[in-house]
Amino acid sequence: MGYRMYDLIEKKKRKDPLSEEEIRWMIREYTEGRLPDYQMSALMMAVWFNGMTDEETTYLTMAMARSGDMLDLSAIPGTKVDKHSTGGIGDKTTLVVAPILAALGVPTAKMSGRGLGFTGGTVDKLESIPGLRSEFSEEEFLRILKDVGFVDAAQTKALAPADKLLYALRDVTATVDSIPLIASSIMSKKLAAGADRIVLDVKCGSGAFMQDRESAVALARQMIRIGDLAGRKVVAVISDMNQPLGHAVGNLVEVLEALEVLSGGGEERLRTLCMEIAVEMLQLSDHARQDREEAKAAVEEVIRSGAAMERCMAFYRAAGGDTEYLEKAFRNIKEYPVTMDGDETLEAVTVPTVPIMAETMTPVYAKEDGFLFACDNAEVGMASVMLGAGRAKKEDVIDPLAGILILKKLGDPVRKGEPIAIFFTKDESVLPAAKERFLAAYTISEKKPEETSVILEILR
Ligand code: URA
Repeated sequence: MGYRMYDLIEKKKRKDPLSEEEIRWMIREYTEGRLPDYQMSALMMAVWFNGMTDEETTYLTMAMARSGDMLDLSAIPGTKVDKHSTGGIGDKTTLVVAPILAALGVPTAKMSGRGLGFTGGTVDKLESIPGLRSEFSEEEFLRILKDVGFVDAAQTKALAPADKLLYALRDVTATVDSIPLIASSIMSKKLAAGADRIVLDVKCGSGAFMQDRESAVALARQMIRIGDLAGRKVVAVISDMNQPLGHAVGNLVEVLEALEVLSGGGEERLRTLCMEIAVEMLQLSDHARQDREEAKAAVEEVIRSGAAMERCMAFYRAAGGDTEYLEKAFRNIKEYPVTMDGDETLEAVTVPTVPIMAETMTPVYAKEDGFLFACDNAEVGMASVMLGAGRAKKEDVIDPLAGILILKKLGDPVRKGEPIAIFFTKDESVLPAAKERFLAAYTISEKKPEETSVILEILR
């Protein structure tokens, strides 16, 4: 049955729900290039304003999941568990969690995305490792999953192509932050990628698409409902994104920080979230432990024994990554002294950095005394995009070494002239504006902020 896109836009504009047939038609026509971007943009904006019913969101998800190939993972024995984050700043949890699960014998087949708006993307982070490919044929994808125990790949053209097109369109038409559009985008990929069980990391705060807890919970519930209807068990961890996760924001810096967690260290909030997600995934798998404490101990054991780190390097190698370069960079992290900004009374600090990045480092100094009180985290993401760690336009090329090392977390005391972050960039011309943006993102106050937990809630 044929429809006119004009009528569908008109319907949505007037808050009338679209039927399953209409949604299927629209997604098929758009994927096959018969609908122009301007009409689809108008429809997306109407959805942004007027929302979608549960039924419409489910129809949209299913139509997008079925717009291309559906991966069949049945050749891999056991329950396959996947995870997905709704996007944030400094979010390298996948790089930690997937090797942990592989070391525990839980097959993890992951499709990741590239940076979107102010948020980073796991595929961009992975591709900062020289030589590493993140696009695989279905055969390669399955072989790596079988040999290594996990695989993390970019969404191929064949998998949920409708989402790939819509994702890029939404990115440039200010229609990303809509619950039905995010829920259908994420769940269509998860359904097409074939995992049996899914753990969602739903980010909440100033560096997330969902700024408040209520909307984050609504998004999580929507995705759990879609999972239910599609016969997939979904658990959602609502986590705080009011400041970057960990210390590193960028690409190679984040890969190195993930290795730090896999070797038993790492910043506390980052570590806590990684452990929690790994435990949830383990508990959804065939290797679930009797209780959470046992599951947590199992996760900690594969880090302590080095098994998770070994799986991580095995995947990077299988994907063509130069692990010698990476291991050398990780082993060669050195402490570099950073000068103060004119205040003789402050002691010099040292920052851990790899030599190749030390050549391009610039400290960013606090402008006043006080406590780091609040952070407009999306602005930190934008500062890192300005340094070259993300894309301002679709065709921009990322600098794998660009990024930010955040030296202070919310609640830390700072003194005027003390470095609060280190910028890495080859492009010195962007430094003044990026510094201004970064500093304006933080509020410094005489008052210490209340401590918040990184995990806000878990929905099952
Ligand atoms: N992540 C996705 O995969 N899709 C969105 O729409 C937002 C975040």
